[in-house]
Parts: sequence; structure tokens; C-alpha cells
Amino acid sequence: MHDLVIRNATVHAGSGTPGISADIAIDGDRIVAVGQIDEDAIEHLDASGLVAAPGFIDVHSHDDFQVLTEPDVTHNVLQGITTVIVGNCGFGAAPSDAAQVQMKAIQEVDSTFKLWAGYSGYLEAVDQNPPSLNVAALVGHHTVRRAAMGGVEKRAPTPDELATMRKMVAEGMEAGAVGLSTGLVYEPGRYSETSEVVAVAEEVAARSGIYVSHMRNEGDGLLDAVRETIGIGSSAGCGVEISHHKAVGAENWGKVTQSLGLIEAAQADGMDVTADQYPYTARSTMLFALVQNGTFGSGSGGAMGRSSPDEVLLCSVPGASGLEGRTLQSFVEEWDLPGEDAANRLLSEHGNEVLVAAFGMDEGDVRMVMAHPSTMIGTDGLDRGSKPHPRAWGTYPRILGKYVREEGILSLEDAIWRMSGFPAKKFSLKDRGAIRPGAFADIVLFDPKTVIDSATFEDPRNGPDGIPHVIVNGKFVVKDGKHTHARAGRALHRADS
Ligand code: CU
Ligand code: ZN
Repeated sequence: MHDLVIRNATVHAGSGTPGISADIAIDGDRIVAVGQIDEDAIEHLDASGLVAAPGFIDVHSHDDFQVLTEPDVTHNVLQGITTVIVGNCGFGAAPSDAAQVQMKAIQEVDSTFKLWAGYSGYLEAVDQNPPSLNVAALVGHHTVRRAAMGGVEKRAPTPDELATMRKMVAEGMEAGAVGLSTGLVYEPGRYSETSEVVAVAEEVAARSGIYVSHMRNEGDGLLDAVRETIGIGSSAGCGVEISHHKAVGAENWGKVTQSLGLIEAAQADGMDVTADQYPYTARSTMLFALVQNGTFGSGSGGAMGRSSPDEVLLCSVPGASGLEGRTLQSFVEEWDLPGEDAANRLLSEHGNEVLVAAFGMDEGDVRMVMAHPSTMIGTDGLDRGSKPHPRAWGTYPRILGKYVREEGILSLEDAIWRMSGFPAKKFSLKDRGAIRPGAFADIVLFDPKTVIDSATFEDPRNGPDGIPHVIVNGKFVVKDGKHTHARAGRALHRADS
């Protein structure tokens, strides 16, 4: 007698092979059989017409705190995500006092949090108060730099400070973190020289983790930034993941041909270099960071590329939600100020935590990056404010509906691989991202004929259509399209830790 048998599904293993018609048997938190299953079960699910795929692994999450404060993490779970990898773009969860200050820029911070010293404490907090999905963590460079140097310092660390940073990274890796992330356009990571990053990445390399980076430049300097990123992995001796691979600003469109070429060249040299992507032509970040990186200034577009004020939408304005959804252009007109000055006035009136979505990428580039074999999928979601970038709610169904079914950019089995088996392999998550006997029962069931996102820039906080069931560690977290509120997730640790 099995606990659960899913019958008549088109089962995708998550390895890139085409689906097969089969049943799946689950006992406890594991898949025990795939094929024709005659044995009876306590619970049955008829999955006729549905694809059963490994639950999606969101390699680019910023929900480090949200998994604790809003353990339903509805925006993730409804789109079939069963594991988030948090700690991206340098924003890490430990040490927690530095994390509380650092994270304020992108996440709601609850000051009543029980504090944890390091990543062992963070992962323990996840296990003690489990969310609806699994959580794996990257060590965030900003957070350890801030902790070791006592704040945002626009200089290189002293030898003692660097040693402290290395110790913190080592602690995280010993606790089971999957790697280290940087965000070299943001404070304080932007003040780091390459050699500092190599030094901290050595602690990761020594423990078979990977180096993940929001690179120093995604605009005019994209190609040098890719070279720096690959060089850091090669000097430290670890694999590399380029975050949200893209070229920003019309003058840089098409450069992804060359950045993909640099990835291919590194792979040909035997390096493990891959990337991730969200399927939209707008990015989302802090307005403060765009201004600081020269996005609205004259001349070079700087490290985050150029956007004009009518391409910028306010996502989240703490204390002034009525402004959310407005364009920067509307303030340019209302105040009769140039774009950069209008942005600065918004920041001085509402604080540096204003989040925006900003168009600036080319759809052709998005498709080219998506189709390239080095690309896996991540949301980079920031579900904050009333108008968050829709990627927080729509990334996976958008790929399955728009880019697989409607446009044929990827085959279904290839898309599923990039959402499950590929990330599990890259981030060393054992027995995840696969439908096979012995793997954990993280499963998403969707209708390939109807699956689609319904989150838009105007109305972003909407779950998808066509994803009726999601299972995490053998338990339904979504059933018949509704969140069950099951807290089925757990903290995941790097496979060899
Ligand atoms: Cu990010
Ligand atoms: Zn980023």
C-alpha cells in the first residue's frame, strides 16, 4: 500500500528526455516507483492530460526572509516552485544583524526575528518554522562584507577584515550553503576589487561550492564583466553561475551573442560556467541603484544600462503605495525635472527602498539566451509592494506557455530540464529535480495545453492557469489550484556537506 499514487501522467524525468506515460508511487517523502503501478494506495490522483515534472528549482530567489515571515510563499508555490535558492545578488541571510540592514533594500525586514549567528542558524530557523517549499542558501558577499567591515566601506578590506569575511564564508559552506553570491553593482559589493572576490570564493572552491554573480556590468561593459566573472571562478577554482544573463540598453542589444560565446569558450576550456534567466524584457531593482549606476544620466549608461523615464515603473514605495504603478516619466512631467532629478526627489521623499521595474532589454536577446544550453531558469522575484515585477508570480508558467507552447523556443522536455534537473546538478542538490525511484517527491502537475502566466505589469499578483497540483516532500502544497498551507518544505544542504 503506497501513500500516494499519481496515475496516467505524462512523466518527465527532469533530465531532458521526452515524457512517458506512467504512474508515480510515493511513500513518505520519496518517489518509490515510476511505471505501471498496480499496488493500491491511500490516496490517488488521476493526472490524465497532465504533465508530471520535477518541482521547479528557482535558482534566483530573494525570499530569504519571506520564507520565514510568509511561509506560504504563495507567489512561488502556485507557479510550481518546490525549492528556492536564496542569497542571490550578494544579499545573504547571515550574519543576521548585518543581513537585517542589508536586506532592507529589497525585502520587508521583521525586526522581531530571532537572530541567528551564521548560516547554520539560518538553515535551522527554516527547519524550525518550515515554509511550504524547500530552501537552499548562497552566502551573500554584501552581508559578510558589511559584517566584517562594520558597514558600507568604499575601500578594500584590511587583511584582518578579509580573514573575517573568509571565516564567515567558510562557516556558511560548512553549514551546507551551496555557494557564494556577489552583486557588484550594489552597496557594498561594488567597492570590491576582483582580488577580494577571488579570496572569498576560494573558501567556496575548497568546499565544492559555486560562485554566483550579479556582475559588475550588464550594460556597456557586459563582456568585460563576463570575463571578470569567469576569471574569478577560474582563479578560485570553482564553477560559475552568471545571474540573470542579459544585455541592458538599446546600444548593447545583441551583445549576448558574444557573452554566450565567452561562456562557450570557458566551457570548452573545461570550466563549469552556466547562467540563469527570467523571461521578461524588464529588470527590477532599487531605484537608488539605478541612479547610482548612471542609468538616467547623460553619457554612458553605466553598469546597469540605460532606461528612459517612461520605461520605469514604480513597484514598491514604502509608505506611499498610491504611487505604485506610476512611471518615472509621470513625475518628470509633474515636477518638470529631468529623469535623474525626478528619481532623486522620489528617493529623498520616500527613501532608498523604492523598487522599480525598468524595461531595457531586447526580446530577441531574451529568446537567444533562453535557447542557449547554458541557461537555466530563475525568477529574481521581489514580491514587494502592490505592483511587483510580474516575474515573481509568472516566470515558470510564462516559459511553459509562451516560450514552449506558443513560440517553440524550447521543447517541453528541454524547458523542464532547465527548471529542475539542470539546477539540481549545478547547485548540488541531491535527489532533487528528478522524477525517479529514490528521489524526493517534489512534483508539479500542469496542463501543457493551458499552462500560462496571468501576472502582468498592471496586475502582477496573480497565480498562473494550468498548474493544478504541486507536491513538496510527498505532501500537496497546491491541490486543485489552491494553496493547502502545508508546511512541507525543509532546509536543503549542499550534497557533499
Ligand atoms: Cu537578484
Ligand atoms: Zn541581481
